[in-house]
Amino acid sequence: MIRVIFISAVIVNLSCLAQCYKILTVFPMAAPSHYILGEAIARGLAEAGHDVTMVSPFEMKNPPKNGKFRDILLTGFIEEHKNHTVMNLFQMEHMNMITHNLALNFLGSTSTRKTLDHPNLQKLINSGEKFDAVIIEQFLNEGLKPLAEHFNAHLILFSTIGPNIWVDGFVGNPSPPSYIPDWTVAYPIPMNLYQRAWNLIIKTVSYANLHLLFYPDQKRIAEEFLPKGLNFNNALYNVSLVLCNSHESTNQAVPMVPNMVQIGGFHIKTPKKLPQEFQDFMDSAKEGVVYFSLGSNIVPSMMGEEKKTAILKAFGKLKQKVLWKWNEDTIHGKPDNVKLAKWFPQQDLLAHPNMKLFVTHGGLLSTLETIYHGIPVLSLPVFADQRMNAARAQEAGYGLFMPFSEITEQRLDEALKKLLNDPKYRENAERRSSYFRDRPIKPMDLATYWVEYVIRHKGAEHLRIAGTKLPWYQYYSVDSIALILLVLISPYFLLKFVLSLRKKTTKSKKE
Ligand SMILES: *[C@@H]1O[C@H](CO)[C@@H](O)[C@H](O)[C@H]1NC(C)=O
Ligand SMILES: *[C@@H]1O[C@H](CO)[C@@H](O)[C@H](O)[C@H]1NC(C)=O
Repeated sequence: MIRVIFISAVIVNLSCLAQCYKILTVFPMAAPSHYILGEAIARGLAEAGHDVTMVSPFEMKNPPKNGKFRDILLTGFIEEHKNHTVMNLFQMEHMNMITHNLALNFLGSTSTRKTLDHPNLQKLINSGEKFDAVIIEQFLNEGLKPLAEHFNAHLILFSTIGPNIWVDGFVGNPSPPSYIPDWTVAYPIPMNLYQRAWNLIIKTVSYANLHLLFYPDQKRIAEEFLPKGLNFNNALYNVSLVLCNSHESTNQAVPMVPNMVQIGGFHIKTPKKLPQEFQDFMDSAKEGVVYFSLGSNIVPSMMGEEKKTAILKAFGKLKQKVLWKWNEDTIHGKPDNVKLAKWFPQQDLLAHPNMKLFVTHGGLLSTLETIYHGIPVLSLPVFADQRMNAARAQEAGYGLFMPFSEITEQRLDEALKKLLNDPKYRENAERRSSYFRDRPIKPMDLATYWVEYVIRHKGAEHLRIAGTKLPWYQYYSVDSIALILLVLISPYFLLKFVLSLRKKTTKSKKE
């Protein structure tokens, strides 16, 4: 008996020796939408049997039973973030390109500094502990990347909005401005000449900002808070894998180098039963339900009286029932068909057969979830990548796009009528949903596979494209073109020279 226990213990341990890796995930943003993604990655890896440590402001509820899991809490971040979101995010809709870049620099600088300076992370840094892989959320925090080298680990990036200018350069992923709009704009695909020109300017300004202002600042922060001897510049480009939270069912189809993997939708859970209150509401809605949420960062009551009245009036005219995520207990003049709550089980509501339409800010998580369930959207984007997601939804024919500042009662009436009465929106959403679900392997299993692959193959250098090692003038063939031009034009000058010599000699003969 004892022997059996001993042998099975050895087997369990052996299987762990072969497959169980120590993984550190770093998701320092205090916004719930970022944590939802980090939590899903950490949980998924732990459930696959790995020993996962997660650095984040949030404590995991019901930590996974398989594998090992440990939280390293960035205490105080949530309280501070709450203070910041009191800032009116609706005002960000009209920020110009320069202010936007500088605002992001400031956000990245303060958050990286705070993260590296946090006593709980410093304790881990000084503990002498090692990891096999470090997964960092790619979000304005290059200063954290030398952590991988410090922990003797392979660096894996998690890109919250898929391939974009923040991450492409580190793995040499091509992103031509001629057909890939920057993530901050809502340009259609294909773009016209004017849009392509602006897109080129926007991408160039962002690129210059990153290389001239942002990375040097992050380097200083890393040098201030991390142990000496770590090489910041090497860390940036020593990326083994990029996990992209995107998918062609919702995002534009773009090129991806071999060490980029799309896992968009990995955070989506199989639907659970709704709380009774919502179950009854949904079941009794014979004409269907419209669900309105501006996500977890925007404080809806800051939208201003005018917009609020327009939305209330438009909703009041619907024969459908409406669920509205609202941060206060009530709204003056609330119509009877509208139910307010501060929180909704969003994924489970979208799964209900009576759900007809999602009126959304167009955040990427909401977009992925609505497509998973095949529900059309009315996108009212405010900032960040929301405009881009809204433009893609309209193009794909499963949504309409109305910038938040352009909302009027009449425009809302028209959009709601179209979306609720024309079956093509639902059909397109369902078609997109079938693209979304038709994959050879579940997205979280794919993520686990690639993380293990990179560790098994010691950083998987064979996947990296050589382009990351070239300076820009070699990458864009500027030096080759210069050489070719030289070769092409040199005969002309040579000939001219020879002719001028002959002229001189004939002249001198005549004399
Ligand atoms: C939040 O803001 C209040 C009032 O401005 C301030 O007293 C408090 O220290 C802030 N909390 C954090 C964690 O920054
Ligand atoms: C790059 O990372 C690998 C681990 O993935 C490490 O072994 C190697 O030394 C690093 N290279 C540089 C130049 O920092």
